[in-house]
Amino acid sequence: MSKPLILGIESSCDDTSVALVDADGWVKAMFSANQDEHHAIFGGVVPEIASRNHSYHMLALIEHLLVSSKTSWEDVDAIAVTSEPGLIGSLLVGVVTAKSLAFAKNKKLIAVNHLEGHIVAPFLRNETYEPQFTMDRPFVSLAVSGGHTSLYFVNSYGSYNQLGTSIDDAAGEAFDKFAKLLQLGYPGGVKVDALAKKGDPQKYDFPIALKQKSQRNFSFSGLKTSGLLQVQALAEELLEQEKANLCASYQEAIVDALLAKTKLALLDLKEKHKNIGFCITGGVSANSRLREKARQLANELNMELQIPPLKYCTDNAAMIAYAGALSYMAGDFSDLSLSASAKNTLLDFSGEKR
Ligand code: KG4
Ligand code: ZN
Repeated sequence: MSKPLILGIESSCDDTSVALVDADGWVKAMFSANQDEHHAIFGGVVPEIASRNHSYHMLALIEHLLVSSKTSWEDVDAIAVTSEPGLIGSLLVGVVTAKSLAFAKNKKLIAVNHLEGHIVAPFLRNETYEPQFTMDRPFVSLAVSGGHTSLYFVNSYGSYNQLGTSIDDAAGEAFDKFAKLLQLGYPGGVKVDALAKKGDPQKYDFPIALKQKSQRNFSFSGLKTSGLLQVQALAEELLEQEKANLCASYQEAIVDALLAKTKLALLDLKEKHKNIGFCITGGVSANSRLREKARQLANELNMELQIPPLKYCTDNAAMIAYAGALSYMAGDFSDLSLSASAKNTLLDFSGEKR
């Protein structure tokens, strides 16, 4: 079979993104429309505004993608779309667009789970990024975003074993809420990251939950409460001058919590699987401190670590198109009865796909 070229569509939250990717993970082109300015005044994503903006941008972006990359519809083998999990109105815009185009252009349709997209993101390739190892070896994936914080053992595409997950909030949510509390603006994670660079990560002692070695899950709700109490305890003028230290210390607690559990999993699985890889992915993997400390951990354990370039960390259509290309190679297609789901239904992350 010749290598298929897949048109990917991502609209699960507030990023409208389209991309063309082949089965080697090669990104031919990607374009995204960011909606941050529309949600910033509300301090978070407003679902209704997000879905309306997706409708507004989607077809124009696809047109632009094809024209600017000199790709004709004949070159496209299938359309892959995020069908779950996410904001239902946002997902529906992508799914309805993908179904309409698949019908009108007579293309195969592939449903992609958003988390599976994040898991394959470190294996994308372009002119400036080449992964150190490919998906033909098993790897541990720490997937950290605004909605999810989970650790997986990935045996191959479609075969996952969830090693741990957050029992309450996602790490990205903890970043975003803290940024909102400190009135740093939206989106929050990147603002905390930037300010933390000027602060002392040891200045405040924020808690790391579920520290016991036997415990493989994460928890961030206690940290959020502790952040709130710490901010409330500071007088207004002092708070202004302490923001950088607060961000650095709070960020350190998140990074250390993520990497402590990851280290336990890596040590364990390294014994069982020779040559196992290590990936970090999802919006929070854009965090500079997490990237730095994860590299230190990989060096310490003598493991190869892959974290995607920033544009493939946060929500993007290239990862959806690549997951679609891998499904295409496996003969895994959807039909026009496809619908969107706010929840995870395609994968239970505890065995083989479907
Ligand atoms: O993967 P993503 O774009 O969307 C979801 O699937 O949720 O992740 C978004 C999350 C947000 O919580 C955002 O604040 C966080 O990723 N994020 C960061 C950074 N960049 C994005 N968190 C910490 N540091 C960053 N540099
Ligand atoms: Zn995401």
